[in-house]
Amino acid sequence: MIIGHGGNKQELARKLGCRASDIIDMSSNLNPLGPPDFVEQAIKESLWTVRSLPEPDALSMRKGFADYINMDVNRVIAGNGTTFFIYTLPLALGSKNVLICGPTYSDYKDSCLMHNIGFQHCHSRVPDRFVPDIDTISKMAKDADTVFFCNPNNPTGTLVSKEDILFLLKTHQETIFVIDESYLPFSARAEAVSLVSETGYDNLVVLSSMSKIFRIPGLRTGFLTAPADLAQKMMAHYQPWSVNAIAQEVVTHIFNYPERIEPFYRQTRAFIETEKAHFLDRLKSVDGLDLFESHAYFILARLTGEIRSKAFCDRVGKNRLLIRDCSNFIGLSDEYVRFSLKEREINDRLAVQIEKAVCDD
Ligand SMILES: Cc1ncc(COP(=O)(O)O)c(C=O)c1O
Repeated sequence: MIIGHGGNKQELARKLGCRASDIIDMSSNLNPLGPPDFVEQAIKESLWTVRSLPEPDALSMRKGFADYINMDVNRVIAGNGTTFFIYTLPLALGSKNVLICGPTYSDYKDSCLMHNIGFQHCHSRVPDRFVPDIDTISKMAKDADTVFFCNPNNPTGTLVSKEDILFLLKTHQETIFVIDESYLPFSARAEAVSLVSETGYDNLVVLSSMSKIFRIPGLRTGFLTAPADLAQKMMAHYQPWSVNAIAQEVVTHIFNYPERIEPFYRQTRAFIETEKAHFLDRLKSVDGLDLFESHAYFILARLTGEIRSKAFCDRVGKNRLLIRDCSNFIGLSDEYVRFSLKEREINDRLAVQIEKAVCDD
């Protein structure tokens, strides 16, 4: 396994000599309003399921999601988180040249490294506020058989329109595009941008994580949606019972009540729009800090003064606030950190510590 994610509360707690439960994790990107009550209730009521084997291919859970997105169930696979798909796809597709649109989530690259598959990055740039340049991606996609594209992107928060992605799909019909929509439910533009229900393209694979929006990362659940032939290639690498019984029960329950999902999404979007605006407004004139617009609930920041990411994270961390040092993202550097926002009171605490950390410089 390749290590380099956020969320290591234990490590910070050891450093500070406190309990991990005393640390506020603002390094991993989870919905502060989750899990919603109906999901929490389903988790509590699902313990009995561990006494029997779950469905080997998680069929009920797949049917629930397939109905929700109006898709044939044979095009939907359920995984042990979208992580399962990220690490299996290049192998299952027989990829040889992978293009990764970055700076982005490092597991796309780690998957290629794990399987000894060649990869290149196409990086968006600071002067463009990290907004991806579709023409550059298109030029580089000519040499790729597989492209990973995260929308909205982690950690930059940028969002690319559906038209731009469709342009890439049409222009490079021999190239498979894996669009990671794990953070899309957080965006006000989700419906206009999502490709998860799109059936007209033979080269489109979409990943949808349940972990972030419903705040159930410990259950490890996510879906892949793809044309039936690509889904079959994935299934050739699928181990039986990849999704455990509790996870199957809970996620099936979520999609049995689709009328509860949209209101929860709307509530989440309204909440994060207000809180993001408040946070950005508070910090917009702080010297030494450049905050990037985000379509998710995490915010990338560039440290424009002397202080570097590790020292910055240490200073903020002393106050038991764990934030993400982005120096290990390829295409970023030790000038970058990421804040995964939470409720107002905690965000305000973070804002105070951010100001102190850049000003004490
Ligand atoms: C962009 C992106 N995709 C996928 C994942 C994996 O999530 P999961 O396996 O819980 O679905 C993460 C986790 O942080 C992520 O940031």
